[in-house]
Amino acid sequence: MADLTTTYMGLTLRNPIVVSSSGLTGTLKGVVKCAEAGAGAIVLKSLFEEQISAETGALGRFADAAAPGEGADYLQSYGMALGPRDYLQLVREAKQAVAVPIIASLNCISHEHWTDYAAQLAAAGADAIELNIALMPTLAHLEGPTVEEHYYRILQEVKARVDIPVALKIGPFFSALAHVADRLSHDRAEAPDFTVGWFGPNTTPGKIVWRGADALVLFNRFYPFDIDIERLQPATGSPWSTSAEIHTSLRWISILAGRVGCDLAATTGIHDGRDAVKQLLAGATVVQVCSTLYQNGLGRIGQMLEQIEDWMQAHGFVTLPEFRGRLSQLRSERPASYERLQYVRLLGGD
Ligand SMILES: Cc1cc2nc3c(=O)[nH]c(=O)nc-3n(C[C@H](O)[C@H](O)[C@H](O)COP(=O)(O)O)c2cc1C
Repeated sequence: MADLTTTYMGLTLRNPIVVSSSGLTGTLKGVVKCAEAGAGAIVLKSLFEEQISAETGALGRFADAAAPGEGADYLQSYGMALGPRDYLQLVREAKQAVAVPIIASLNCISHEHWTDYAAQLAAAGADAIELNIALMPTLAHLEGPTVEEHYYRILQEVKARVDIPVALKIGPFFSALAHVADRLSHDRAEAPDFTVGWFGPNTTPGKIVWRGADALVLFNRFYPFDIDIERLQPATGSPWSTSAEIHTSLRWISILAGRVGCDLAATTGIHDGRDAVKQLLAGATVVQVCSTLYQNGLGRIGQMLEQIEDWMQAHGFVTLPEFRGRLSQLRSERPASYERLQYVRLLGGD
């Protein structure tokens, strides 16, 4: 009998399948259904700053009618402290209703809101917080380090305000992702060097500062941009991923596993038990699922668990640590194959 229990950010999970932040986890009913379907943990739908602003903006308009000029300003800050009551209520009720860990999710734009709301989510009883940070660096004058600093600062400030674990959910678009992932995570006992390739040896100057993420969630799948060539308009692509989208996350989980001082959660393109096993072999602590649950129903969680168990039995594994990270780059006999980007060999007929 396979034992699928795992720890994620210090929390005990009955299995490594986490329902990721989405409409499936935005209501108490949805949360209960996910737990009943067998999820190991649940990430609530993100609380977006736009929502916070809408709520406090409505309060402000109401106050302005009573005290023109000052009401909105006052209530803007008052409302921020109050928080979107419904979301905090969802956290409280979810914690009471289900036994699996509840991870609240936050997406803010301005600095002060990240910390204030993270503190409120922790006070409401969330087991952990996932910061869903997504910045579109479209300004030509904005340099990479400035953008990175923004991520670091948010995380550092939130960590300073809460004492529950904090995960950071990011996209893959960084010029030096391994470096950013390292600096976002905890200090490590051992810091094995990345393969020295075209860039040469480590040349990072100065004191190293780790910002202490308890987990990195790799990678968010952003709203897909498309173009409608008939209507000559911008359009949106499919909201659902396919299994074919697993590769970016799989590559980076396998490269970062054992090298960054935090847990790794894989998200995007995990659709069945086989996909989950791949990510676990790469070194993921847990896998997050979303599209496959929308497409196949919550029963998919049970199917995935069965597939993982069957695979473990067929390969003689009883617990997850026996094979987790077995195919990470760090433990691989063929580390170069994880860094191959080009199809050069095809030209030689290989
Ligand atoms: C309808 C929908 C709503 C989502 N809402 C959120 C959200 O509020 N916060 C968040 O961090 N990710 C959100 N996501 C992204 C998912 O959590 C997940 O990271 C992404 O869909 C990739 O995983 P998948 O391939 O399993 O779908 C949403 C995705 C979908 C399809």
